[in-house]
Amino acid sequence: MKEQPPMGMNRTGIQMSPIDSKEMQGMPPPDMMQPTPGDESGMMEMRGEYILASDPVGSVPIPGTVRGALTTGASMLTGDMPQLLIDKLGERLAFERTGTRLYDALINKFQTLQDGTTSMTLADLQRIREDEARHFHMVRSAIESIGGDPTSQTPCADVTGVESMGLMQVITDPRTTMAQSLHAILVAEMTDNAGWEMLIALAEEQGQDTMVTEFSVALDEERAHLQMVRGWLEEATLGKVVSSGAIVDDVSDATQSQQLH
Ligand SMILES: [Fe+2]
Ligand SMILES: [Fe+2]
Repeated sequence: MKEQPPMGMNRTGIQMSPIDSKEMQGMPPPDMMQPTPGDESGMMEMRGEYILASDPVGSVPIPGTVRGALTTGASMLTGDMPQLLIDKLGERLAFERTGTRLYDALINKFQTLQDGTTSMTLADLQRIREDEARHFHMVRSAIESIGGDPTSQTPCADVTGVESMGLMQVITDPRTTMAQSLHAILVAEMTDNAGWEMLIALAEEQGQDTMVTEFSVALDEERAHLQMVRGWLEEATLGKVVSSGAIVDDVSDATQSQQLH
């Protein structure tokens, strides 16, 4: 079943005021034919000055534990950049935490609306929510394993927190529908998939084999999330699934089948 947006008294378009719009589109007097003076160069110049004068968005904390100091020092000697790994681990930690909260908000909306536009079930959403929470704890342990402090906010964690604000606003807005909320979740899941892929490549580069193994499982789960969310959004919008691959109605099944490949 498709989700239809309501028709109503939307006054944002020019067609709502035919008399005024006709007058507005009429030939302007000669003195108004001149283009408006000025352009965006002044604004760009000012932004440029701020860019050059600004400090970066935070920093990666110096490891507070002996093991961390040793690990970081050893990696630096071998030419790796452990601070980059810690920064990106911090990013995933922040994003998985937000992901858990996004699904909490989506579950709340789903239960309230009793939405029947998709084949999505409460159990599906709860399973994905648990995956996100588990991923959060997995990344926290990974940070601790190299002596990092998972309670610190790294620069990329900070940036991703700002990025996610819009997604959270869409889902917690009481007026948004399930389809609109699913669109916000789709943005999150696509970003999540790309983020895990990059983190695995980085961990591989730095010889963190345990992280690579664990994170690959998380990536498989994220791929299943993306496929499901995309399918549900298509169901709500088109009344059918058009993306490649059928909707998987069991996250654990999807994860297991992907792990076999
Ligand atoms: Fe996630
Ligand atoms: Fe996810």
